[in-house]
Amino acid sequence: PRAIIIDTDPGQDDAIAILLALASPELDVLGLTIVAGNVPLDLTVKNALKVCELAGKTDIKVFPGAAGPLGRPLVTAEHVHGDTGLNGPDLPEPTMQPQDKHGVDFIIEQVRSHDAGHITLCPLGPLTNIATALQKAPDIAPKIREIVLMGGGFFEGGNITPAAEFNIYVDPQAADIVFKSGIPIVMAPLDCTHKALTTKERIDALRAKGTKVCDATADLVDFFERFDEEKYGTDGGPLHDPCVTAYLIKPELFSGRMCNVEIETESELTLGMTVIDWWSVTDRKKNAMVLNQIDAQGFFDLITERVATL
Ligand code: BDR
Ligand code: CA
Repeated sequence: PRAIIIDTDPGQDDAIAILLALASPELDVLGLTIVAGNVPLDLTVKNALKVCELAGKTDIKVFPGAAGPLGRPLVTAEHVHGDTGLNGPDLPEPTMQPQDKHGVDFIIEQVRSHDAGHITLCPLGPLTNIATALQKAPDIAPKIREIVLMGGGFFEGGNITPAAEFNIYVDPQAADIVFKSGIPIVMAPLDCTHKALTTKERIDALRAKGTKVCDATADLVDFFERFDEEKYGTDGGPLHDPCVTAYLIKPELFSGRMCNVEIETESELTLGMTVIDWWSVTDRKKNAMVLNQIDAQGFFDLITERVATL
């Protein structure tokens, strides 16, 4: 299996991404590193513990990381995820404890202690932990196999400002460090994730499995999609973060192209914008595989089938 570290700010869609990874034999989850994002760090840590317990995987180690972005105040998204960040299912208070080690130190230690090309990082939130690890230990960059992340948007625009997607907007400075790191990057921007829409049939298929974890997953989706349904009148909402773990399990569900991607770190108007050279109008180095297509039914079938095994 492929060794991954999931860096996350759960979040309903983060939770489903984690459940999918924990249910999949293709992936070896070395640990979860937690970042502040959708809600403050104390809540994202608690939510990550709840998700591991829901999955019945109490041996997974959860490492608290950065409590806020590198150079600006934290922006959160309770308006999307609810006051706990994980509103929807009625999950018990976790009995698992987080690790004492800082998430950034766990990333550094794991990359250093494995062969080059062994570890893939999967950021599902603001890139603060990843950028901090790269700043603290520049030697790890060439040893990381790949970074597969959810973030950004181009033709689709932004979801927190007209120009910026939430994860990149919260810590543009961190995103800039990651995109300039030279590490191979795959990104699932809104152009991909907005095609991964939940529908009534897809949620019914989850509930039809009749397991506790599938019911909780359906409750997560029900809560999460109400935001887009109410605001944009869509049938269903986008499951952003599971695109990352699904890509690692079944890359054939996705397609995209290699592009140069730069991050806007200064303009107030377009802060956190991912400037993607989709049409190769510059000769800047192509530093990321930008996904823009997804087989949405195949994606939901994968989630349903795998989560049902937990
Ligand atoms: C991203 O922002 C968060 O609200 C979601 O969990 C996802 O990671 C989508 O823009
Ligand atoms: Ca997230």
